Amino acid sequence: MAVATLALGAVGAAGATAAPGGKPGPRYTAGAEGVGDAYFPFAGNGGYDVQHYDLDITYTPPAPDPAPLVGEFDGVATIDLVSTQDLDRFNLDLRGMEVHALSVNGKPAASVAPPLAGEEVDGAAYWHVQDDDARVWELTVQPRPKLKAGEQVQVVVEYGGTTTRPRDIEGALYGWVTQRDGALVASEPDGSMTWYPVSDHQTDKATYSFEITVPEGKVAVANGIQPKPEETANGWTTWFWDAPDQQASYLTTASVGDFDLRETYTSSSGVPIIDAVDTKLSTSRLATTNASLGRQAAMVDFFESKFGPYPFVAYGSIVDNDSVGYALETQTRPVYSSSASEGTVSHELAHQWFGNAVSPERWQDIWLNEGWATYANWMWNEERGIRTAQQSYDNWYAPARDAAYWGLQIGDPGELGLFATQVYNRGAATLHALRLEVGDADFLAAAQLWLERYNDSAGTSEDFQAVYEEVSGQDLDEFFQIWLYDQVKPPADWTTP
Ligand code: TRP
Ligand code: ZN
Repeated sequence: MAVATLALGAVGAAGATAAPGGKPGPRYTAGAEGVGDAYFPFAGNGGYDVQHYDLDITYTPPAPDPAPLVGEFDGVATIDLVSTQDLDRFNLDLRGMEVHALSVNGKPAASVAPPLAGEEVDGAAYWHVQDDDARVWELTVQPRPKLKAGEQVQVVVEYGGTTTRPRDIEGALYGWVTQRDGALVASEPDGSMTWYPVSDHQTDKATYSFEITVPEGKVAVANGIQPKPEETANGWTTWFWDAPDQQASYLTTASVGDFDLRETYTSSSGVPIIDAVDTKLSTSRLATTNASLGRQAAMVDFFESKFGPYPFVAYGSIVDNDSVGYALETQTRPVYSSSASEGTVSHELAHQWFGNAVSPERWQDIWLNEGWATYANWMWNEERGIRTAQQSYDNWYAPARDAAYWGLQIGDPGELGLFATQVYNRGAATLHALRLEVGDADFLAAAQLWLERYNDSAGTSEDFQAVYEEVSGQDLDEFFQIWLYDQVKPPADWTTP
């Protein structure tokens, strides 16, 4: 589902031909090397729309301490896509992995050294990888024959390597994070390329299927449901997972560890809940985790009553004894580091509506994810009788804060500010103020319209404002200017209905 339209300077061998009758023939160019996201210019790719990723992974976790903390990874990615322009060549994103073989529509391509700009490589099918320190990670493919716009294309990439512990632009662990007992896989914003070839941007959602083979005794947990039970032979177990809903690449997981897999209950609306809890959690962390997970069904019921139907086939949590320092709302199955608190569980569940079903079209729109997930937690706390949303707002508004705090524009926080505290808390406060501005009924009606209209897709802050203006009949320019962009504390009168 391609939504973004901006193309980075794509240059390609133009081969315009005029067919008889004056109808222009195909004009083959290179697909763009990014979708045009200002924060991550090389994330995602242009010229095609991925439909489905089938990921067949064999993974050997590290040997016991003191062996190095690295794993062995072998993958076959089968990618179904549709070309959206006449393609001379196109890119996938891939970081820190070697490609062993690649074919397009069953036709093998050869590995070449990266050619110079504009240089033709014998008109042959080829691929090459660019993997450097400037955060440019691209797998370039020149298919032969060339691809006409609208073609259904299958790309098969055999790849693999030694897994490490990659870091995001601000230094946080992400992607395929090797752990002593397996791997904790959490890829926001652009870490999926550390474990599979991908158009790594949420404007190209796709469905997924997984076959993950790990040493017998290890459990591999990915998104969605198990279409069939795991199979064990010769000391290896293969785990099958299907994620049939449209899914952004950063929400993909395939975590491996010593998990207790629990498939025992559903929400009132029938959403199956499948949890994976590390068997090595301490007694107190296990108690906290179990208490939080035990409330998931009730949380689904509560959020459905506010936001509308739960958007995906299943839900559940992956709680890893290891840590990347944060939790992530991986689609249908969030991952938690060390233990899962009730507050964080409500936050990650709310992301299934806000962030996952409807994703931020640009990374600068991240407040739509984090503000909503934080606000939904405020709502859950009210439901539980802990404190009202108004009290959470007041607790945020009251303290004196420095100019740097108010200076961060949550509507454009910068690529190093994606997970800044202001994005979460000023974001939640923005939604509370919006609720007071338009009234409770319109606040939820507009939220539901937003979720329906942009379901399986992505939207911007401007799109969000437009939905609230449509539902409320109010002009909200000044409101959103103050809350998302003014680099001062919003005035107190925005809190009075
Ligand atoms: N999106 C995650 C959440 O709020 C948080 C997250 C992702 C994060 N990557 C991060 C937080 C890196 C800190 C650092 O649920
Ligand atoms: Zn969040």
